[in-house]
Amino acid sequence: MAGRFPSTRIEALLARMTLDEKIGQMTLVSAGQAVTGPSGPVDYVQAIRSGGVGTVSNLWDPVQNREVQRIALEETRLGIPLLFVMDVIHGHNTVFPLPLAEVGAFDPDLWRRTARIAATEAAASGLAMTYAPMLDIARDPRWGRIAESPGEDPWLAARFAEAKVQGFQGDDLAAADSLAATAKHLAAYGAVTAGRDYATVDVSDRSFHEIYLPPFRAAVAAGVAAIMPAFHDLAGVPMTANAAVLRAVVRERWGFEGVMVSDYGAVAELIVHGVAADIAEAAALALRAGVDIDLMGNAYARGLPAALERGRVTIADIDAAVRRILALKDALGLFEDPYRRGGPLSPTQLSAHRDVAREAARRAIVLLTHRSGVLPLAASGGVIAVLGPLADARADMLGPWAAAGRPEDMVGMLEGLRGAFADREIRHARGVEIGGGDASGIPAAVDLARAADVVVLCLGEARAMSGEAASRARPDLPGRQPELAKAVLDLGKPVVVVLSSGRPIMAPWLFERADAVLATWFLGSEAGHAVGDVLSGRHNPSGRLPVSWPVEIGQIPIFYARRPSGRPADPAQYWSSKYLDLPVDPLFPFGHGLSYTRFAYRDLRARPQTLRPRDSITVEVDIANEGAVAGEDTVFLFIHDPLASLARPLMELRGVAKITLDPGAHGTVTFTVGTDDLAFLGPDLAPRLEAGAFEIYVGPSAARESLLVTTIELVTDERTDAVGPARS
Ligand code: BGC
Repeated sequence: MAGRFPSTRIEALLARMTLDEKIGQMTLVSAGQAVTGPSGPVDYVQAIRSGGVGTVSNLWDPVQNREVQRIALEETRLGIPLLFVMDVIHGHNTVFPLPLAEVGAFDPDLWRRTARIAATEAAASGLAMTYAPMLDIARDPRWGRIAESPGEDPWLAARFAEAKVQGFQGDDLAAADSLAATAKHLAAYGAVTAGRDYATVDVSDRSFHEIYLPPFRAAVAAGVAAIMPAFHDLAGVPMTANAAVLRAVVRERWGFEGVMVSDYGAVAELIVHGVAADIAEAAALALRAGVDIDLMGNAYARGLPAALERGRVTIADIDAAVRRILALKDALGLFEDPYRRGGPLSPTQLSAHRDVAREAARRAIVLLTHRSGVLPLAASGGVIAVLGPLADARADMLGPWAAAGRPEDMVGMLEGLRGAFADREIRHARGVEIGGGDASGIPAAVDLARAADVVVLCLGEARAMSGEAASRARPDLPGRQPELAKAVLDLGKPVVVVLSSGRPIMAPWLFERADAVLATWFLGSEAGHAVGDVLSGRHNPSGRLPVSWPVEIGQIPIFYARRPSGRPADPAQYWSSKYLDLPVDPLFPFGHGLSYTRFAYRDLRARPQTLRPRDSITVEVDIANEGAVAGEDTVFLFIHDPLASLARPLMELRGVAKITLDPGAHGTVTFTVGTDDLAFLGPDLAPRLEAGAFEIYVGPSAARESLLVTTIELVTDERTDAVGPARS
C-alpha cells in the first residue's frame, strides 16, 4: 500500500514496539455506540492507554473521537494513532437505499457517488474506515443478509465492487474525506445452508471461483484497503483460518497487500467451530491464514503470546501483520495528521446529499406489476387511502445497518405522498402491526378504503426482519398483513401496493390481485419523497431486480445463470427437470422492472461476427420508446457458450447499458464484448478460451423470451489459448 511515511519510519517504529504493543495494534475493540455482536463490558479507554488497542469500532461523534485519539497519541508510550471504523453500509447521516435496492439502479456512477457521500459524512464524524462494501452473491431470500448484498450475479457484483471501492476511497486515501474500504465477507457467505445465517457453506471449487470470488477480485484490482473473511466454514475450514484461500489465492495469486480484519469475534469462534483447542490455537490459525486484525475476539491479546511460546507462530508473522496495519494508517494520512478527519459539513452539503438520496431512492424502486393503467395517480381528484403498517413508519425506512441514521430524519410514505398529492385528500389507517397478531384495526382500515377512490397499501417487513442474524424460513408477508390486504382487495377498488422489505417477499396472491406492486425495499432518508415521485409520475420507474424473485419458497435457491440439464424443464414432459406443483421460472426474472412507457428492441447486430483472442466486437441494438412518456431503459447483454469442454450456464451477464428516450424517439445502445468476456475456468479452474460459436442475447431482463439473439464465432489457433486476466 502506497504510504506517505517512508517505510524506514515504519520499520523504526516496529523495532521499538514490545510484543504487547504489537498485539495491541492487531486488536480492535467495539466502543459501543452500535453493537453488532455479543459483547462484554470493555473498558476500552483503559485498554487504549495501555497500548492494547489499534482500531476502534463504532464511535462516530467527532468530538469524542478526537478525545479518544488524543489519549492514544498523548497517553500511550508510542503515540500511534488509532483507526476509527464503522459499518457504513448504505450511507451515514444521509441514508441511501439498501445495497440490494441501490444495485437495482444498475448505475455504477450512482453507486460511486453514494459511496463518496457516505465517505464524506463518515469522515466528518471522525471515521477513517468502513466495513463495506459487502460483496456476497446471494441467491437465497431466506438469508437476511441478502439485503446488504449486490444480488445474484458475479459480473454485476464485480462492477458494484469497483464503484464502491472508488467511491469510499476516492483518489487519495489520505484525503480528509476518504475512507478505507473493506471488501466483505470473503467468500460464499451467501451460500449458507438453507439460508440460515452463520451456518456451514459447502459449495464446489468451481462455484467458489466462478461465482463467489470474482467481486472480491474486482475489489482488490480496484485497490481495496482491507478484506474481511466471513464467519462460516467452507467445507469444514472456517474462512477465518482458511490459509488456502486467504493466503494462497488472495495474497499470493491476486497480490493483495492490504489488511485483513476478522469478522466480529470470529477468531475466538474457531474454538466453537471445533478446529482450535484453545485461544492460542485459534489465534495461531487466524494469523497464519493472514488475518491481521482481531475484531472483538480479544483472541490475539489472549492467545498470541502462548502461540508464540509454543512455536505455532513466529514474531515475523506478527511483524508482518503489524507492518500492514501501520502501512494502512500511514496511507490514510493518520501519522501525518491524525485529526484530519472530523470537520463539520455545511447545510448546503447536507442538502445536496439529500438530493442524491432522493435520486438514488426513486431509481431503486422496481415496478413489479402494473395492470389497468392505475399509475401514475392523478394529481387531483378523489380520496387516496394510505393504509398499512409501513405507511407511517419512519424508523423502518432506515432498513438494517444504518446506525448513524436518525428516524426523525427519514421521510415516511405518508409524508411523501402528502407532499406529492397536495391537491388530493389523503386518509390514513395502519390496520395491523407488521409482526403482531392483533387484527382489530382491519375493519376501520377497510371502511376507510371503501370511502376512497384509490388505495395505497404499504406492506412488508420491519427493518429488523432482514440483515444480520435475520434469516426467515418463511419470507412472506409477516403477521396479519395478508388479512388486511385481502380484505382491502375484496372491495374491488384500485389498489397499489408499496412493498418495503430487505428481500423478495413470497406472496403470489398479492401480485395476482393488486393493480400494481412496487418493490421499494428500504429506501432510506428520502423514501417517502421517492415513492411520491414515482406514484405521481414525476419520475418514471426504472429500477430493475438484481435477483430473481421466486414464486414460492420451494424454488430457492433460484438464479438465472443455470447450467443446462440433460432433461430441460418442460411441463409437458414427465421425465424433465420440473416441479409437479410449481413452474421452474421465477415470478419475476433477474433484470425485471416495468416502466410507464414501452420499449421495443430491433435489429441486434454484432460486428465483426468473428473474433480472435484479444479482439473485441461491437454489439448494437436499436431501441424505440413506443409509449406516451419519456423513460430510461436498462439493457442487458448475456453470453452463452453452447458447446464447450464443460457445460456452461445458459446465460451469463457481460454488459449493462442505459438509454433515455422521449416518447416516439429511438436510439442505439452499444456494447463491447472482448475475449475475456468469453473465457471461462477450465476443468483445472484455470482461465481458458475455447474456439467456436457463442450466442449473444440482448434485451430487458433475463427472461429468455424477451431477448434478441445473434451468434458470433471465436477462432483460435489452438483449441485452448491462454487468456488473462483470470476472473477469480
Ligand atoms: C458482521 C460484519 C460487520 C461486523 C462489525 C459482524 O457481525 O458480520 O458485517 O462488519 O459485525 O460490526
